[in-house]
Amino acid sequence: MIVRWKHLIIGAVLLPVIGLLVGWSGLIGVGASSGHWAVTDWFLHWVMRNSVRTAAISVDAPPLDDPALLPHAAGHYETGCAICHGSPTQPRSEAVLAMLPVPPDLKMVVPTWTDEELFQIVQHGVRFTGMPAWPTEVRPDEVWAMVAFLRELPEMSAERYHEVSGLHPPPMEGEVSPLPITCESCHSERKLSASSLIPSLAGQSEAYLLESLRAYSEGERPSGIMEVAAGTLPEAALPDLARYYARQQRPQRPPLPADQALLDKGRMLAERGRPGEKVPACLSCHEKAGANPVYPKLSGQSRPYLERQLNLFKQGVRGGTSYSHLMTEAARKLTDEDIAAAAAYFAQRRVPSMP
Ligand code: HEC
Ligand code: HEC
Ligand code: HEC
Repeated sequence: MIVRWKHLIIGAVLLPVIGLLVGWSGLIGVGASSGHWAVTDWFLHWVMRNSVRTAAISVDAPPLDDPALLPHAAGHYETGCAICHGSPTQPRSEAVLAMLPVPPDLKMVVPTWTDEELFQIVQHGVRFTGMPAWPTEVRPDEVWAMVAFLRELPEMSAERYHEVSGLHPPPMEGEVSPLPITCESCHSERKLSASSLIPSLAGQSEAYLLESLRAYSEGERPSGIMEVAAGTLPEAALPDLARYYARQQRPQRPPLPADQALLDKGRMLAERGRPGEKVPACLSCHEKAGANPVYPKLSGQSRPYLERQLNLFKQGVRGGTSYSHLMTEAARKLTDEDIAAAAAYFAQRRVPSMP
């Protein structure tokens, strides 16, 4: 039979109608209990892999071998990911195994993705699967920390997982679950070091701590990690936490090595700024007697943390208290070298003693 235009047109009209009829008939099951047909399953994963691979082309991974990337990522993994994907101390639950698609055991699948592809998945999530996006789009540094953690996960023992995530204390023989992640899992002074990306809270004013916690839970200060950590608490718990940390003395840690020229430059910025270029003296606000208590203390804070926050201010993405615009303005004209110098200087500056 010769296929004529007429047949083609009739086919083109009929096919969608048949499709609609089948959909309308109710014969296609949407129940999760029966799973996908193998071919559907294969097709969906094929689409996902292609989509992630294409999106990852424009992404470049930074170096991920800094051990300071692990603790906050591991703590966040325990709070925000282990419930679906399991962890070195906890298998996936029955309820999770009944989800469609089943959240995979990441130990098995992480090695099949590149760093850039993992970044893409963790930043944006996977539509129609329950895999959530990172709570904010403006903190790729946090997502990269998670990728660094995922890279180590396949080889990670339960002890090592406890150690980096701050799950504490490790459970005794026969005990099922350890204590959940708390503020101290990440912020305990005992675990912080001169290279930490997690800030020391000790000795910061109560007003600053409280306003910062509110800023995180309301999304005013973007951080997926702190948004989740602060969001798990009732509002009423925040003042007590702020008071608790405000009363502690910040320890003076031996700082990371820095050359004298950099420290001198940092001191100049701190004490005098660069008036000609509208760079204000940092100490005209920070740690000045009688200044607004919401201006945070910087001395003795870790250098990588200070550097990162200064970069966030300069990019205009760090919010915070109702005074944060003052700092955004102060950071606008800072060069990369200024930022390195100021962070090195304040990290080694003598910590003010408690009143
Ligand atoms: C509510 C459950 C849920 C939570 C919470 C969750 N995920 Fe997922 N995740 C999934 C599901 C379901 C998939 C499977 C998607 C698929 O196969 O199409 C997935 C897939 C992934 C994958 C890709 C693995 C693969 O090969 O399919 C990675 C990587 C991943 N998740 C990491 C994380 C991280 C990191 C977190 C925490 C920040 C997290 N997930 C939180 C449900 C979850
Ligand atoms: C999983 C690790 C983790 C947990 C748990 C955690 N934090 Fe944080 N916290 C961080 C990180 C990382 C930052 C830096 C975030 C940023 O870049 O803004 C931070 C920042 C903060 C800041 C801002 C400090 C400053 O100098 O601006 C406060 C305040 C704070 N956390 C309080 C708390 C409190 C209170 C809890 C318990 C409810 C808590 N955190 C739980 C990791 C954590
Ligand atoms: C006009 C007052 C002012 C000046 C000048 C100023 N700051 Fe700030 N700074 C602030 C305020 C206010 C905040 C708190 C922002 C918030 O979270 O609300 C802040 C926050 C910071 C933070 C974040 C601290 C933390 O714990 O997260 C760093 C780092 C910082 N300033 C460094 C500097 C440096 C370096 C200079 C000098 C180049 C400087 N500041 C000059 C007002 C100022």
